[in-house]
Amino acid sequence: MRAYYRSLRPLVLWRETARPLDWRQLFGREAPVELEIGFGNGDYLVARAQQHPERDFVGIELEWEGVQRALRRVAGAGLTNVRLLLGDARPILARAIAPRSLHRLYALFPCPWPKKHHHKHRLFDQRQLQLVNSRLHDGGEFYLLTDHEEYFQWVLSNLTDTGFSAFARTVPPQVHTKYEQKWLAEGKTRFYELTLTKTVHCEVPLTEDVPMETYRVPVFDPSRFQPADIHEAVHVVFKETRYDPVHQVAMVRVVVSEDDLVQHFWIDIAREGNEWRIRPALGCGVLPTVGVQRALDAVRDACLSLSPAQRP
Ligand SMILES: C[S@@+](CC[C@H](N)C(=O)[O-])C[C@H]1O[C@@H](n2cnc3c(N)ncnc32)[C@H](O)[C@@H]1O
Repeated sequence: MRAYYRSLRPLVLWRETARPLDWRQLFGREAPVELEIGFGNGDYLVARAQQHPERDFVGIELEWEGVQRALRRVAGAGLTNVRLLLGDARPILARAIAPRSLHRLYALFPCPWPKKHHHKHRLFDQRQLQLVNSRLHDGGEFYLLTDHEEYFQWVLSNLTDTGFSAFARTVPPQVHTKYEQKWLAEGKTRFYELTLTKTVHCEVPLTEDVPMETYRVPVFDPSRFQPADIHEAVHVVFKETRYDPVHQVAMVRVVVSEDDLVQHFWIDIAREGNEWRIRPALGCGVLPTVGVQRALDAVRDACLSLSPAQRP
């Protein structure tokens, strides 16, 4: 089997770590912190961390493949000033990164999602730019580079009330990332660059965890168990239930979507004495949210075979 990374040490399990993340504790020193969203293979993050050993660098990437490649590069370069986070940058910024804690933030060639019905996936609408602003120190900088003119214009159109002054221009290739090389190979020689400097602070407080209520119920009948999906402000979709009669444990697979956060996890229903204990399965790294609580409530109601009218 091919070893994709040499050390997991730079990886921060942000779901399991106290939030907001404490840079001083994570890096073991006090230094300016830069953050890259969607670092891909980590080309730019690693190069910049090598150029600036006096700074600390945090990368967020949605895809595990990219994180593995970046881990290998960080180890190969012997860097100690890089930490990597796997996941969607939006909930990570909202939940794990303290306001006014970053000196610089950047995104190189973010996915432009050109089709209209995919625009909802685009990064850096007005609300996300306000979030980016809030996480930067006063005077901090957000740097965006893209090959896609229509996406670039869309980001520019979102700048109202985001507390930034903007400087936009086209530039030649300069960051040497995988996607810059890709567009260069396709004949693109000018890219759209946007530098936003924070002039006014946008107040976007950290999204706090919701205290979780787990349950114990007197009955559970796996043959009748049918939790009901929820489609309201939060979406809760139950995918499957597996029951182990020997150990008297059921596992319920569920997907919870709320705002920008989608969580896939299991809820377990385990026999304990005369009762059944309902809680998110250990090891799923679930963020305690309103949606997760709704999923637990629905499992409890299904155990008790409560109709919607009977539910507390
Ligand atoms: C077009 S690639 C660019 C990668 C790299 N910056 C480069 O220049 O080669 C966009 C990257 O952003 C990542 N990405 C997309 N949406 C993201 C999100 N919401 N949070 C974090 N990363 C994201 C993708 O997985 C992908 O690696």
